[in-house]
Amino acid sequence: KKTDEELIEEINRLRKEKNAVILAHYYQDPKIQDLADFVGDSLDLSRKAAATDADVIVFCGVRFMAEVAKILSPDKKVVLPDMDAGCSLEDSCPPEDFAEFRKKYPDHLCLTYINCSAAVKALSDIIVTSSNAEYIINQIPKDQPLILAPDQHLGGYLAKKTGRDMVLWPGSCIVHERFSEQELIKLKAKHPDAPVAAHPECPEHILRHADHVGSTSSILKYVLDTDAQEFIIATEPHIIHQMEKMAPEKTFIGAPGADGQCNCNDCPFMALNTLEKLVACMENLSPEIEVDEETRQKALAPLNRMLEMSP
Ligand code: 13P
Ligand code: SF4
Repeated sequence: KKTDEELIEEINRLRKEKNAVILAHYYQDPKIQDLADFVGDSLDLSRKAAATDADVIVFCGVRFMAEVAKILSPDKKVVLPDMDAGCSLEDSCPPEDFAEFRKKYPDHLCLTYINCSAAVKALSDIIVTSSNAEYIINQIPKDQPLILAPDQHLGGYLAKKTGRDMVLWPGSCIVHERFSEQELIKLKAKHPDAPVAAHPECPEHILRHADHVGSTSSILKYVLDTDAQEFIIATEPHIIHQMEKMAPEKTFIGAPGADGQCNCNDCPFMALNTLEKLVACMENLSPEIEVDEETRQKALAPLNRMLEMSP
């Protein structure tokens, strides 16, 4: 079995040899975050993928993110270390059911969270992420009825924040649903000076205790910019790696689950990507993301609308 150092050496060799760029999400293993050319949230990563001049995009994240890279950069080879790296939000929204659902609301503009399949994007009007959704909604006339899919918690949060009525799809993220309100209240009592930063994929009973709600990069920015010694972080705990790197003098406590344990609700899909699989995928340029051209064209339009309407 090779050591991590040997694997990283191989990755560095392959990165040059294949003219590859390695993009990683904040929920990836710290070793992968550290070797990536760029680490970011869903919006940052899609912009990087659209702008790269590398021949190969190695996506260390989940499948829908790699698919977005392929839709925006169809001439690049896009590879993902493990094709099974899915997402519970994507799973909650099968395209056939979504097409039926849309038919019930012919006058509604459909805003779809980027955490979905290319086929669902192809059925949408504008794609949004946690970092641009509010900004995009505020550009849409107030009398325009809206659908927000597939994350009901992000949808509920946005409806409240923007004062808009929205038809929601009942999907959710298994990671952000695992936090316990009761345990969070206990943890806050033990750390009364620690602000709570939460991702909008959390249910309302968690968000109501948050001092800041935002995407992964906005949570990161918040903890760097806020004058506090300790923070409680209600999102996937691997992002704490970046926080500890950027603000080593501060303490970051992951929000607890029902058993009171902190930092233990890893995203099981993100965790499928390992250094070993990363080496193999760069060596073989496989598994490769493919999106049929008709779906790609249809999904590209709402993604481009997102990029045009983003801050
Ligand atoms: P962001 O990084 O865009 O905040 O998304 C979080 C997430 O759940 C990705 O799956
Ligand atoms: Fe999907 Fe949740 Fe994992 Fe993000 S954290 S990839 S939303 S399952």
